[in-house]
Amino acid sequence: MSFVIAIDGPAASGKGTLARRLAQHYGLPHLDTGLLYRATACALLDEGLPLDDVEAAVEAARGLSLTDFDETRLRGREMGEAASVVAAMPPVRAALIDMQQAFAARPEGAVLDGRDIGTVICPQARVKIFVTATPETRAQRRALELAARGEDVDYTAILDDVRKRDARDSERSAAPLKAAEDAALLDTSELDRDEAFAAALAITQARRD
Ligand code: CDP
Repeated sequence: MSFVIAIDGPAASGKGTLARRLAQHYGLPHLDTGLLYRATACALLDEGLPLDDVEAAVEAARGLSLTDFDETRLRGREMGEAASVVAAMPPVRAALIDMQQAFAARPEGAVLDGRDIGTVICPQARVKIFVTATPETRAQRRALELAARGEDVDYTAILDDVRKRDARDSERSAAPLKAAEDAALLDTSELDRDEAFAAALAITQARRD
């Protein structure tokens, strides 16, 4: 398999930032797979459909195009919660597998981040990193991120979101959030962005050769 870096972890663990920086460092394309679930949920909400409409969710997932995401809207707090509802549906996950695996199969390699990259999407990835941080640290980071986007921020509500989403993502039967057995664990609770990147780079270099 070409050079694939699989980054997984819970909400606001810092995996997106790490994935972006690793992709930049190695000159690889990057896919934030959370956007696929966010865009699926967004399509349902835009059509006024309930999030538990499995058929409509599958149709929305099949119709996604990687190039026309409105990231500003998709990254909002509401969409993160809605994404984790549609992401628990096995047919929705199945509808998104080919797109992700095709991205990972690019000849130059790729960086993908999500919840099930090392376990389901790219079990053969050469580099797998499972990024964690305490719920409090993650809630603080998410609060800063949302405040920077101009959203109203209530730390307690965000901590509650983080905990609920951890439970929903870890307890679902379809591709639950868990570290692959051969993933390197990276706890970023005590690390700033540069330290976390340095640690991820060291793991990647060690596994690359
Ligand atoms: O940035 P954050 O971790 O909050 O969100 P995200 O990575 O965009 O993911 C949003 C939701 O999509 C997660 O809570 C998961 O339920 C779901 N997801 C998933 O199930 N599998 C993936 N590979 C990526 C995201």
